[in-house]
Amino acid sequence: MTNLPAEPLRRWMIDVLGAESADPSVAAHVAESLTQTSLRGVDSHGVRLFPHYVRTLRAGGVNGRPAYKFARRAPSCGVLAADHTFGHASGAEAMKHAIEMARECGIGAVAVQHSSHFGAAAYFGFLAAEADMIGLAFTHSDALLQTYGGTQPYLGPNPICFVAPCLGEAPFCLDMSCSSFSWNKIRQYRERQEPLPAGVAADSRGCATVDPAAARSLTPIGEYKGYGLALMVEILCSLLTGMPYGVHIKPMFDVPPETRRDLGHFFMAINISNFQPVAVFKTRLKSLMDELRGEPRLNGAIPVMAPGDPEKHVLQIRRAAGIPLSAADWTEFQKLGRQYNLSLPAPVEKELVPR
Ligand SMILES: NC(=O)c1ccc[n+]([C@@H]2O[C@H](COP(=O)([O-])OP(=O)(O)OC[C@H]3O[C@@H](n4cnc5c(N)ncnc54)[C@H](O)[C@@H]3O)[C@@H](O)[C@H]2O)c1
Repeated sequence: MTNLPAEPLRRWMIDVLGAESADPSVAAHVAESLTQTSLRGVDSHGVRLFPHYVRTLRAGGVNGRPAYKFARRAPSCGVLAADHTFGHASGAEAMKHAIEMARECGIGAVAVQHSSHFGAAAYFGFLAAEADMIGLAFTHSDALLQTYGGTQPYLGPNPICFVAPCLGEAPFCLDMSCSSFSWNKIRQYRERQEPLPAGVAADSRGCATVDPAAARSLTPIGEYKGYGLALMVEILCSLLTGMPYGVHIKPMFDVPPETRRDLGHFFMAINISNFQPVAVFKTRLKSLMDELRGEPRLNGAIPVMAPGDPEKHVLQIRRAAGIPLSAADWTEFQKLGRQYNLSLPAPVEKELVPR
């Protein structure tokens, strides 16, 4: 592993995207989202995706200079046409509109059309929490989730994210896909040639497999319940946006990099102050989480955590130790550095505690 310091790496990614003429605000959101996601230990959706994003930007699959069109269709609803830009940027733009509408109306909801992969959903929820609101973020994704009772994938792992501001610590953050594993993690296991945990993937016949090379679909969380949640997300992100659904969505990988994916996302901001005084809400959320954390442990060595706690723990470590890159990813980053004549930050020489 090579550990890179987060802030210089973020600036380096902005420079690379700038060299490809990406709009500064688009570049800033992509770099900020990837850095935040890796710092929080969500490596599947962090900086390791950057070389892929640069390839799609160069090839025109993603538009670095979008002309957004936002149509406010009702006081608290709108549709953002994202002009095929990075989902990280279109999602932030959509959440900005959702927050503005929630300030006026209590709730704001924005459907995004003609977008692309948005990375980790938490990035957008945190934007709402900064404004003292609850943020919800959803996206559909390519068909990778095994259909409950079937052999093949039809829906994507379609993540669901709920973020709420909390007193004295980072916001509560539940950010989860409807699959028990993410496809980007399967790719990481493939790279490392390690067997998968049992029960997370199925092969081409729909049978459980631990061989990452044989994996063709991901197992839904909670069987038919996770499958049902994935369909709920599909309805929000495909039917409210007018974008393709299920197997009709163009995949992220194994397509020419110039492919425009026409992804849809859905965001919502809820203005807490229209329901409860914000300070009371944040104080009570802190008490609620602390009470949960204090619940009796099944195994004395393993703490009871609130959703988001594992990432808070990794964040503390990585702020000092840097963001780890596998040997393969580090080679890709060095290639990009040479290609754009932009020196990468010097690696951090610290022992990194694994996640
Ligand atoms: N853009 C896309 O198309 C896409 C698709 C799928 C997933 N994703 C992203 O992938 C990322 C990873 O998703 P995932 O489902 O693999 O995450 P995960 O399984 O690692 O974690 C899911 C949630 O469970 C919480 N959690 C983990 N351990 C816990 C414990 N012991 N106690 C309490 N809570 C705990 C985490 O804090 C997190 O909120 C997310 O950021 C998601 O948005 C993106």
